[in-house]
Amino acid sequence: MKKMLTLCVIVLLSYPSFSQNDISSKAKALLAKMTLEEKLGQLNLIIPGGAAVTGSVVSTDVESKIKSGKVGGLFGFWGPDQIRKAQDLAVKNTRLHIPMIFGLDIIHGHKTIFPIPLGLAASWDMGLIEQSAKIAALEGTADGLNWAFSPMVDIARDARWGRISEGSGEDPYLGGEIAKAMVRGYQGTDLSKNNTLMACVKHFALYGGAEAGREYNTVDMSRIKMYEYYLPPYKAAVDAGAGSFMSSFNEIDGVPATGNKWLLTDLLRKQWGFKGFVVSDYTSLNEMVNHGVGDLQTVSAQSLKAGLDMDMVGEGLLNTLGKSLKEGKVSMADIDQACLRILEGKFKLGLFDDPYRYIDETRPAKDILTPANRAAARNIAAHSMVLLKNDKQLLPLKKSGTIALVGPLADNKRNMLGTWVVAGDWKQSVSVLEGIKNVAGNSINIITAKGANFTNDTALFLKRVNALGVEAEIDPRSSADMIDEAVAAANKADVVVAVVGETSNMSGEAASRADISIPASQQDLLKALAKTGKPLVIVLFNGRPLTLVWENEHAHAILDVWAPGTEGGNAIADVLFGNYNPSGKITATFPRSVGQIPIYYNHKTTGRPFDGTGFPKYKSNYLDESNDPLYPFGYGLSYTKFEYSPVMLSKTNLKGEEKLTATVTLTNAGKYAGEEVVQLYITDPVASVTRAVKDLKGFQKIMLQPGESKEISFVITTEQLSFYNSELKKIWEPGKFIVHIGTNSSNVQSAELQWSK
Ligand code: NOJ
Repeated sequence: MKKMLTLCVIVLLSYPSFSQNDISSKAKALLAKMTLEEKLGQLNLIIPGGAAVTGSVVSTDVESKIKSGKVGGLFGFWGPDQIRKAQDLAVKNTRLHIPMIFGLDIIHGHKTIFPIPLGLAASWDMGLIEQSAKIAALEGTADGLNWAFSPMVDIARDARWGRISEGSGEDPYLGGEIAKAMVRGYQGTDLSKNNTLMACVKHFALYGGAEAGREYNTVDMSRIKMYEYYLPPYKAAVDAGAGSFMSSFNEIDGVPATGNKWLLTDLLRKQWGFKGFVVSDYTSLNEMVNHGVGDLQTVSAQSLKAGLDMDMVGEGLLNTLGKSLKEGKVSMADIDQACLRILEGKFKLGLFDDPYRYIDETRPAKDILTPANRAAARNIAAHSMVLLKNDKQLLPLKKSGTIALVGPLADNKRNMLGTWVVAGDWKQSVSVLEGIKNVAGNSINIITAKGANFTNDTALFLKRVNALGVEAEIDPRSSADMIDEAVAAANKADVVVAVVGETSNMSGEAASRADISIPASQQDLLKALAKTGKPLVIVLFNGRPLTLVWENEHAHAILDVWAPGTEGGNAIADVLFGNYNPSGKITATFPRSVGQIPIYYNHKTTGRPFDGTGFPKYKSNYLDESNDPLYPFGYGLSYTKFEYSPVMLSKTNLKGEEKLTATVTLTNAGKYAGEEVVQLYITDPVASVTRAVKDLKGFQKIMLQPGESKEISFVITTEQLSFYNSELKKIWEPGKFIVHIGTNSSNVQSAELQWSK
């Protein structure tokens, strides 16, 4: 019966199969048949009740709106049966049978959850990152979806901002490479296939620049800083063919992004050539009223004219554009343009070919949480982990003796997945305890103790963290009792593994923190464990860089596992016991203290640079803190030891559009096979505008066996020397350049060259 109906609808609609080239003319032909109300309906994206809600407004009367053609797409729910019902409402009841688009926050996996994006970035492995998005697309489409609100490519230099966890960190070049890999992974080479999702690049733009790291706060930055450091990942996503963009909550140059013509039209479409459609963030259009730029009718007209095509939840476009049209505040051409872009998106997805293309009730069982998907998640999670400290080669642990496994995250499934997992089920995840048992259980003795609650600030902090449901359960025992139990376990063990840090929702949206240390209850536990004198390994869960000065001094080893996803426990055990030698490198600087923020490696020299020695007055420094971070960008250790030769340049005097090759010999001088992320940075010491002390310009992830050496080369062209000048023109200027290659942004080998025009 279902099949019959589908067939009828297809015959009725008689939409042929199109090449990308005729999409625009087909969409125009359809548009010509549409009434004003039908066009406005296409601009409307709403959320059915019971779906994940990230704002105060929820859509009402969803079913009758769909039937009357007032809805272009739905988001926030999944499952072929549910989506079929919804698609039926649109396709069978509306005059032109236009299918809806179905979106979801698929951020780091759909049901097989991968590490949070900041962790994925730490792998520096574009193949694995692409694979994670490809699996997410396979699972998302198996659940009836065709649109992912991802990748988030916002550059962030402020670890107080909770959403630093959802992006790639602080570097525009790495961020751009990751943006491309994610778009490739979601969209593949053919958006109309039933296993690819349309990407929605967000949040356009500069959302990560929120003042003081406070969520939804004002952004204000110079154009040079935007072009050089914040915009490149969005541009990279356009170049990779991303089908849609989401506007951000913040303002830019005093104009909210959702209604910012410079941003959505001049930059995105005219300068960058973006051909897809732009959706607002959740009620960001309505929030322009709060920003203070006009009433709902005014901001809706402004946004449409600025280049916004679709309105998420707030229904400002749906409800006010008719009036604005009558009053001459918008034209039919403005409305047509937005509607056309959405129709084109649906044509690209193949929805006019078959509105039910992504709906197949047999697929979830075949494609979701399969052993293959889980194996990939385990491998990718292991690659994302960063070894921050490893005194006297404490790690990897031997698969013998007694381990005291303590801490609130040691035997906890709920917080493995991290922030923004709408469809992920924490019950599917592998805890650290389970992972250790799986990997080494038969040969070691494990004593467990919780040791501490996530926080003792139950009144305020915990309430906010648990706002979406209980993820941080509170043990009723006193702190002292819990610590005593953990210390007793430690005293009986050969090594202590303390699994501590942030719960999943201590980072993410609306999770800014003014203090980014490990909560005090857990610090007290660590201090008591350190006093036992037993070797202490910290397994750190975190959605952002944390301040870890004490931990770095007192723990013998620290393994940063972020929020590692469904297979997290197994992946952690793989790394702890040496089945996988860690290769991750941090992509956001870890400050020593919160007062150093914003702290990032590609900073300017200033007119009074401080060289780090002594306590000189009138230099760019602090009275009470070093300028140095705790861990610099690109930092991460391995169980083996990598040695770098000096940098060899194929030429040191170049002219015009010549190129050179910079080479180092990398040697694995340790005992373990391992991967190293070899990083290329360039300094332009004198230019017509001030430049950063260095900028990442390339990287390669290299696997070496013990004793093996390899020459690693980077080709350098004038492209890597170029920058935006005061007129925002991308240029390069002749002179001296310094090429650095090394293991992180601070530890490099350098060589100089001269380049003339
Ligand atoms: C608000 C968030 O900012 C955005 O990232 C997300 O995609 C939407 N809500 C939809 O859930």
